[in-house]
Amino acid sequence: MQALADHLAQQLADGYPAEYLTGQAAFCDIVLRVWEGVLVPRPETEHIVQMAEDFIVEEGRSGAVVLDLCSGSGAIALALASRLPQVSVVGMELDPVSVSCSRESALDMGLSNRVRFVQGNVLTAWALTIAEFRSHVDVIVSNPPYVCGQRLAGAHACSPLEPVGALYGGTSGMTFFKRIVAQAGDWLRPGGMLLLEIDDGLEQSILGQFKRYGLQGGRWSPDLRGLPRYAEAHRAT
Ligand SMILES: C[S@@+](CC[C@H](N)C(=O)[O-])C[C@H]1O[C@@H](n2cnc3c(N)ncnc32)[C@H](O)[C@@H]1O
Repeated sequence: MQALADHLAQQLADGYPAEYLTGQAAFCDIVLRVWEGVLVPRPETEHIVQMAEDFIVEEGRSGAVVLDLCSGSGAIALALASRLPQVSVVGMELDPVSVSCSRESALDMGLSNRVRFVQGNVLTAWALTIAEFRSHVDVIVSNPPYVCGQRLAGAHACSPLEPVGALYGGTSGMTFFKRIVAQAGDWLRPGGMLLLEIDDGLEQSILGQFKRYGLQGGRWSPDLRGLPRYAEAHRAT
């Protein structure tokens, strides 16, 4: 027993995420599975769930369809569905281990009838995987890889055992945002919301992309440290 405790303590000291040891992570008001290779959801992402919930409630879109791009562990999708009993969510994620992990969490939580995870590449045509949702989505939410080349080594050093593919957003950090913003208008219903977690320093580029693709009311808001962390815009009504 002592040997096991010492081994676990050593793993933690070496930077092995506690969530990988327990196989679980707490996020918003849920506990979900996280396996090695799946990004552990971060506290700052919880605010995105609140923003999406506020929009759905204030707009009276109780049966909303939500698209969670780069869904990873399924944290955003599952937290939102657990709060809003009539909402349905589709998560799209490239990594097959993350897809399996999120599906198991959905089953654990009794949400698999309303939350579906599909394996798909957000950087290619979304119609390959989620064609039926074109023009039918109330909220697109995404926390995609957004760390730029210059910041990647530092970001990865903070948690070296987590997948680098979950962090790297291309040289400027904008690769995923450009693709998502370019396609969002075709997938949102009129008045629907695009909600992104972003890195500080990208906010002006993202507002520029919103304008370029005709999305309205683009704005960013800060996280608890005061850094630009969230960006939102809407499809015209
Ligand atoms: C920053 S993590 C966010 C995960 C989860 N949404 C969260 O908030 O914890 C980004 C996710 O994007 C996934 N990803 C990377 N490239 C992708 C692609 N081309 N298409 C879809 N998902 C991708 C990664 O595997 C990772 O799970």
